[in-house]
Amino acid sequence: MAAQVIAVVNQKGGAGKTTVSMNLAGSFANRSHKVLVVDADPQGTATRWAASASDDQLFPASVIGLSAANTKVHREVKKFIDDYDWIIIDCPPAADSPVPQSALLIADLALVPLIPSPLDMWAAVGIREVIHNVSGINETLKARLVLNQYQGNTSLAKEALNILSEFGIELCQTRIASRQVYRQSAVFGRAVQGFGAKGKEAIDEIESLTDELVKVLERTAIIDG
Ligand SMILES: Nc1ncnc2c1ncn2[C@@H]1O[C@H](COP(=O)(O)OP(=O)(O)O)[C@@H](O)[C@H]1O
Ligand SMILES: [Mg+2]
Repeated sequence: MAAQVIAVVNQKGGAGKTTVSMNLAGSFANRSHKVLVVDADPQGTATRWAASASDDQLFPASVIGLSAANTKVHREVKKFIDDYDWIIIDCPPAADSPVPQSALLIADLALVPLIPSPLDMWAAVGIREVIHNVSGINETLKARLVLNQYQGNTSLAKEALNILSEFGIELCQTRIASRQVYRQSAVFGRAVQGFGAKGKEAIDEIESLTDELVKVLERTAIIDG
């Protein structure tokens, strides 16, 4: 069966695209699925992440760099589609690059990590437009927002939830908090699952996000066929 493709996109850098991409990949791999991360960002952060793993604890998914394919990323990704269960495309900021548009052409799901701050939410309008434009061509494209670095007890977070309820892209129930272990996962080249009990809260968040996304994409399969 063809891989399900998740493009992790946002208008700007620093929203958590690579963190979410790599941890989702780890989570799917942990479930014994075959996972490919496509590093579509010329900064190569996902590639470096995997390369930071130790010899005795390799990053659990394959990572390849395809940023040089530029507007043809979708064509290159297509070549891997029968060899994996999940392909996660870690995109550069859409403000800087045409790559996200290309990635979205082949995606089943656009996943937008978003920090609930005014600046980040203003920028999110840009990616909503990109997703909207691509869905004129890729008509089955789904989209979800996931809050990252979320601090639930702040008034800013509550305000963000209010605004986002009318944003036009559905919000995942799962929220990803700001946690040291997410930073460490990049340093040690692991997904949070690789930290065991020390990563428990983060693991629960990522598992819950994975479950949610599986459901979103299951529904697509039922509707289509
Ligand atoms: N939930 C989180 N908790 C703590 N640090 C985070 C979290 N998400 C991202 N970061 C950190 O924020 C920075 C930007 O994240 P990154 O995933 O590289 O964003 P992007 O790929 O969108 O540019 C990195 O230093 C990363 O370790
Ligand atoms: Mg990145």
